[in-house]
Amino acid sequence: MKLALPGGPQAFLSEYWQKKPCLIKGGIMQFKDPLDANDLAGLAMEAEVESRLVVRMGENWDVQHGPFESFPSSDKDWTLLVQAVDHWFEQSNELMQLFDFMPGWRVDDLMVSFSVPGGGVGPHLDQYDVFIIQGEGKRRWRVGDKQPLKTLTPHPSLLQVEPFKEALIDVEMEPGDILYIPPGFPHEGYAVTAALNYSVGFRAPSGRDLLTHFADLAIDEERYNHRYGDPDLRVRDKRGEVSLPELNRLKRCLTEIFDDEATLYRFFGLYLSEAKHELDLAPCEPEYHEEEVAQLLEAGTVLHRLAGTRALYLAGVADCLFVDGEAHALPQAVAEELANQGCPDTGLLAAHPAALRPLTRLINRGYWFFEE
Ligand code: SIN
Ligand code: CO
Repeated sequence: MKLALPGGPQAFLSEYWQKKPCLIKGGIMQFKDPLDANDLAGLAMEAEVESRLVVRMGENWDVQHGPFESFPSSDKDWTLLVQAVDHWFEQSNELMQLFDFMPGWRVDDLMVSFSVPGGGVGPHLDQYDVFIIQGEGKRRWRVGDKQPLKTLTPHPSLLQVEPFKEALIDVEMEPGDILYIPPGFPHEGYAVTAALNYSVGFRAPSGRDLLTHFADLAIDEERYNHRYGDPDLRVRDKRGEVSLPELNRLKRCLTEIFDDEATLYRFFGLYLSEAKHELDLAPCEPEYHEEEVAQLLEAGTVLHRLAGTRALYLAGVADCLFVDGEAHALPQAVAEELANQGCPDTGLLAAHPAALRPLTRLINRGYWFFEE
């Protein structure tokens, strides 16, 4: 499979990314479904995997959450959606790798849906960018321009918007076609024939997300206990007023927190590397000893990163790799290799003895594994 964006990835980013929706006919050359409807149904039967079944009954909608034991026998108007399929179904990673031109931390997960004719989730908006790839079958997609639309909840766990009339894109998608939709553009898709759709979703934290999660870290680490102080206080007759210098001093209590870049950036690394959905982690049993890991690295045994594992390093912060919400001290060259390459160069890892202990820990936890 090969991605064929109009004018190449940079031209696509400059013209469309976060600006306007775009249909890329035949956007994936030699497209092949990495899974089929049975594989998806199998995943939706697993307790660890997040799945939903959305059924349309005329004006009414029903939503059920997995794990499922069975699926509707009707051949119309339902769709099964499974989150983070890339964490559980190794073969789907070829599809994710097509988007390797994007910063890894911005990519979230692969949601896969199977819909029978008429199946869909109704008109809605997403807060995140998404590439919807058409797999097997045909589905009609409509995308409208950004516009004020009333929110509807035809079911407590289904957020829709009122129908939108004009469509910027109205297309019957075929296997290998890609629809890019930036945040906030209303869209709806209904299967024409039984259809698989792959949604590569992105993450973009809101200010509120960052603030609340940073506050959690400050509480956990008992940071920022400094208090407002006013040793220069002078007698004043307007007792009810909080003066401007006082307001500024209060504001400084907060800005000083954000000026603590060492903590703030560490927080970004921890937060952005956390997986939103469960990973298929299988800790090693028995655990590897460091010497065994050293031998395997020297022998050039292939090391893989567990699918869905987020591994990041920060520009300007040396010798630190963030993996799934934890920080690990590692030589910079090793941190970069582990974060940038799915299969790191084992020779390079072997050449850094200081990496052995943290790397052994990561392997024993299941984040990287040696090819059998
Ligand atoms: C779907 O595949 O049904 C949902 C994709 C989306 O609209 O985000
Ligand atoms: Co959507």
